[in-house]
Amino acid sequence: MGKPKTDGSPPASGRLVHRGAEATLRAVDWWGFPAIVKDREAKGYRPKALDERLRRERTRTEARLLVDARRAGVRTPIVYDVDVLHHRLVLEELPGPTLKSILEDPNLAPTLVRGAVRSLGMALGKLHAGGISHGDLTSSNVLYPDGPEGPPALLDLSMGTRSPGVEELGIDLHLVEEDLRALSPESEALIRAFHEGYAIGNPDGQSAVRTRAKEIRGRVRYA
Ligand SMILES: Nc1ncnc2c1ncn2[C@@H]1O[C@H](COP(=O)(O)OP(=O)(O)O)[C@@H](O)[C@H]1O
Ligand SMILES: [Mg+2]
Repeated sequence: MGKPKTDGSPPASGRLVHRGAEATLRAVDWWGFPAIVKDREAKGYRPKALDERLRRERTRTEARLLVDARRAGVRTPIVYDVDVLHHRLVLEELPGPTLKSILEDPNLAPTLVRGAVRSLGMALGKLHAGGISHGDLTSSNVLYPDGPEGPPALLDLSMGTRSPGVEELGIDLHLVEEDLRALSPESEALIRAFHEGYAIGNPDGQSAVRTRAKEIRGRVRYA
């Protein structure tokens, strides 16, 4: 055991999986289950009270939305534990490539990649139809636990909202489209597949959300 941190949170141990701008993730054994401990680290440049509040809120939001998304029929890691006081989540560890690594793999068959993107569209459609926006839907926040042919799991929902407006939904769509454009030479075919899936997952909302995503793209490009 390491020295306790000054904020009193237990020292984290386990194999380092990822160190991002917001959080550090470690792989651990959780009562016999492979798990990920996600610690939101303190940010020294924020006043301490604000920093504490933001980390607590995001930890809480992420836990809630991961659970809500599962209820809406979208795969997410199971939340094993929430320690809001210490800004810590313990999540089921899921195997599988990220969407980013699928898009960057030159050896994958294009039909397989299109299928993976189409099923992401369906999952996002279901999330939206269930009244949840993701808020940070980059290709690193999508995993394929059963491989590119299986349904995706969504990660990292701390910037998501309940009862989102069409703007939040449009941003989710826009972010995926931008990642597809950045990472694949086949982006137009992939965006079509993504929209096709989205229309199945969110049949009532799809037209308005796609229109808004287009508007957002125009705004970003000509701003
Ligand atoms: N439950 C999980 N199972 C397996 N890998 C995970 C899990 N959660 C996160 N990861 C991996 O760690 C990376 C960062 O996790 P994420 O929750 O997105 O943190 P950040 O907020 O720093 O982006 C992900 O892109 C993914 O590769
Ligand atoms: Mg992330």
